[in-house]
Amino acid sequence: MKSIHLQPIFLGFLFTALSVSVLGQSTHSSRPPAQAADTFNSYCAVCHGPDGTGSSTGKALNAPNLRSAAVQKQSNAALVRFIREGKEPMPPFKGQLTDEQIAEAAAYVHWLGRHKARQ
Ligand code: HEC
Repeated sequence: MKSIHLQPIFLGFLFTALSVSVLGQSTHSSRPPAQAADTFNSYCAVCHGPDGTGSSTGKALNAPNLRSAAVQKQSNAALVRFIREGKEPMPPFKGQLTDEQIAEAAAYVHWLGRHKARQ
């Protein structure tokens, strides 16, 4: 008899677990982690603009549109390397940001290729 009483509770748990995982997924695919957006907006947007197309400073320095195919076709690893090392006049970020922040910034560049900026 005990097991019959437990069943509704079990189903309740299962339902909660499922809805959490479904919500988690949709949040994940449509929004980047807030931290990645913060990193990009704090360190990169000054030249690249919050949406990656380039601020007036960035345009004056010939910063490319980060949403362009030329940038978007590059692998995540290639972007990480570029952001770590920089390329005149873009500064290297290896001393300034942690490896995790650099990885987030690279992922955010790819995210910008598919979405509007997260403000
Ligand atoms: C001082 C301005 C400045 C800042 C700050 C800056 N960039 Fe750049 N970025 C540039 C310029 C200029 C270029 C073009 C460099 C070149 O190819 O000569 C560039 C190029 C790039 C590219 C293109 C790489 C390629 O191979 O085409 C990526 C991606 C990029 N930046 C990401 C970032 C990220 C992420 C940050 C923040 C962590 C950042 N940038 C911060 C100026 C800046």
